[in-house]
Amino acid sequence: FQPKVLAGRRVLITAGPTFEPLDPVRGITNRSSGKMGFALARAAQQAGADVRLIAGPVALETPWGVYREDVQTAQQMHDAVMQAVADCDIFIAVAAVADWRVDHVSEHKIKKTADRKMPSFTFVENPDILAAVAKLPHAPFCVGFAAESGDLDVHGEEKRVRKNVPLLIGNLGPQTFGRDDNEVALFEAGGVTKLPRADKTTLAQTLVGEIARRLPDTSLI
Ligand code: C5P
Repeated sequence: FQPKVLAGRRVLITAGPTFEPLDPVRGITNRSSGKMGFALARAAQQAGADVRLIAGPVALETPWGVYREDVQTAQQMHDAVMQAVADCDIFIAVAAVADWRVDHVSEHKIKKTADRKMPSFTFVENPDILAAVAKLPHAPFCVGFAAESGDLDVHGEEKRVRKNVPLLIGNLGPQTFGRDDNEVALFEAGGVTKLPRADKTTLAQTLVGEIARRLPDTSLI
């Protein structure tokens, strides 16, 4: 039995990587299977929420009862989130968004040249979707994720404050990509709470409970 802790809540989730094309056949991306974001979408739906999932390119099935929209680039993910965000109470940014894109995507496949001259690219910054949502005047309850290659204790709280979100979930293990289990810590103004290592399905259920406990009580508004 699972209590419907998110009954009546509308949840928007980003998941997976983004893909930024260089030319029609190549691009840059981030390592992310989308498993954690999809597990959270499933757990939130099972907890009674109305869930909209905006997914980068992943090879995963849509969880039952979840409305899914597929995107490729960070800009597309940003636009899809901004379209949907006014209708949501909770925003969970799980996607591993590529920080940069090339300023000009080549219309044709970039050819190798006879003199073996390497191509060069100029990168521009992608929008920070989570920070943009957190800045909105009527921002939903925002939850961020962070994967660092080290020193999460320091960077987790710094990142939470920088992104201006009440809750940031930090991946503790360096090897979370594509795995079925994960170990995380919750960073919030009151301090850091480490959760035990668990498979992503169990962890998603725990996180949904942790998020639900921290929501402003709408019955008091
Ligand atoms: O700064 P960093 O990429 O480590 O921040 C991670 C958090 O910010 C994640 O919740 C991620 O989904 C979100 N993010 C975003 N848009 C970006 C970069 C990160 O929403 N362009």
